[in-house]
Amino acid sequence: MLLMNASFVLVTLAVLKALAVAQGSNPSVMIVLLVRNKEAYLPYTLSQLSRLDYPKERLALWIASDHNQDRSAEILHTWLERYNLPYLSVEAVVNASSPPLRPDERGAVQSPGRLRAVGDMKQEALKRARTLGMDMVWFLDADVVLHDRYILRRLQSVRKPVVAPMLRSVGGYSNFQTSIGRTSPQEEDAFSRIYSGRVRGCFAVPLVRSCVLMDLRDPRTAGLTFVSQSCELQPEVETLDDAVALAISSRNSGLKMTICNGEDFGLMPVPLSPTQELKDEWQNLLAMKLETLIDYPPMSVVPLMRLFLPPPPTKSRLGFDRIYVIGLERRPERWRRLKACFDEIGVEAVRMLAVDGRKLTDEFLEERNIHPRGEGRKKFINKGEVGCSLSHYYIWRDVIKQNLSRVIILEDDSHPSADFPARLRQLVDEADRLRPEWDFLYLFREAAFPDDFEPVEGSEHLIRPGFSYTTLAYALTRSGAETLVRDDPLKNLLCVDHYIPLMSGEVPFSEWMEVYPSAGTLRVYSGRENIIEPVKRIGEHGFVSDCTEVDDLFGEVSYGNEVEECNMETLT
Ligand SMILES: *[C@@H]1O[C@H](CO)[C@@H](O)[C@H](O)[C@H]1NC(C)=O
Ligand SMILES: *[C@@H]1O[C@H](CO)[C@@H](O)[C@H](O)[C@H]1NC(C)=O
Repeated sequence: MLLMNASFVLVTLAVLKALAVAQGSNPSVMIVLLVRNKEAYLPYTLSQLSRLDYPKERLALWIASDHNQDRSAEILHTWLERYNLPYLSVEAVVNASSPPLRPDERGAVQSPGRLRAVGDMKQEALKRARTLGMDMVWFLDADVVLHDRYILRRLQSVRKPVVAPMLRSVGGYSNFQTSIGRTSPQEEDAFSRIYSGRVRGCFAVPLVRSCVLMDLRDPRTAGLTFVSQSCELQPEVETLDDAVALAISSRNSGLKMTICNGEDFGLMPVPLSPTQELKDEWQNLLAMKLETLIDYPPMSVVPLMRLFLPPPPTKSRLGFDRIYVIGLERRPERWRRLKACFDEIGVEAVRMLAVDGRKLTDEFLEERNIHPRGEGRKKFINKGEVGCSLSHYYIWRDVIKQNLSRVIILEDDSHPSADFPARLRQLVDEADRLRPEWDFLYLFREAAFPDDFEPVEGSEHLIRPGFSYTTLAYALTRSGAETLVRDDPLKNLLCVDHYIPLMSGEVPFSEWMEVYPSAGTLRVYSGRENIIEPVKRIGEHGFVSDCTEVDDLFGEVSYGNEVEECNMETLT
């Protein structure tokens, strides 16, 4: 029945339940959701409301949506029809008949009329919450992705009149400001300390937005308003939106807003720029999904919302014969994460089980005539590194055996961003055009010396790199694989991080040149910038390196510092 009318006003007068339900320990909360053109996010954000860990009979919904150009209204209808019942009250005005643009609008950018309308709607919601005697009101943007179901309880436990969880965005944009108008260097510094997590906890700030919980029981909130009194307009405030109006009224009430960053609460998209279009929200969402995958399971929706998800992208190998992902059997979660990323961006990869350094025995090595060696300043090689080198070696052999002409090899702690396929294509196109003889392309590298590279003439992206570490991600041709196995590297097995530079001629004084006649013949190129990144950097919370874990050493163990250098495991 809800879907019958083009626009509808749904008011479940279950409000009366409010009187019946005992106060209990759960404050009543009105959730205010304004929706416009949020088709990409809504299936996820509504699912998170469905899953919120909070008694629904203590939650009221206040939803308004108009001037949509996408399926937002339809999604809201569908969700409300199915999920409205348990709530304390539902007031939803979803106008499916309003035109796509307001009279003063040109494109996706918020117009003054729109900003005013949003302020007015929030103000109306606030007034309604007060009338209904709600304990709290939670203003939640329809594109905010929260990482857990307990968020509301966590915000309540802060016990502040106006509190927001800090949200990150892929572009470094957040939902708090350390000044209302122009920002001083000190205020910028305060912002970056909070945003980066160098300080953790809850902090008083002049402005929060996007996910704001207000405690109406606190008398100081009586003066809060989303509607700007124009005489208060400060010259330094550029856009007087609802959040700025709220911040000004908060300041005038002598009330501090609170931002909390004690946990990783969630993500928000980067606002669309004037040159972007609505469809760019899908890219924003994709970026948020990939970011979520770094630490969390894939974002998912309640069954009813699956209807509104776009079909998954068709998979490709990005012009390569095979994309190998090397991973240890005992780390299946890494493959699951990377596979989930690839499912999102439409990449087909195969998993290759790595040789596990922890399980390596002398017998295994003897049987196969494998002789691990140290290289250069590093006089030893540890078991993790041997496992790593062997894993890469067996893939090179596989490339030759299967007669593949070009492949990508990734370690399973790589993490692609949304533009990985496009940037890979650009790089490979340039390499094919300017250096068609290429053997090996770094997709990620750590340069030993940042400026140590030669540009390739006529190229935008392609360089000839100097000594570089890591074999996290690279492309390899069959001729490259042939070069890499030519001199039987098992007999003098070096750490693969050193072996590649040796074969590309970037380790000119190595004592291993003699036993490797092919040293210097591997034609190695790289992107000027990395086109894929490790999921965690060394030293970052959660970083684990299976290649450098020091269980046991082979070779001549040398002096202190170098042990440290290679012992980078930071188990948490
Ligand atoms: C829907 O929008 C149209 C055009 O803006 C307006 O005339 C109409 O009153 C709105 N309906 C509701 C229920 O708000
Ligand atoms: C390997 O593949 C190439 C084409 O990439 C083909 O010319 C060659 O005959 C193949 N070799 C074998 C042994 O299948």
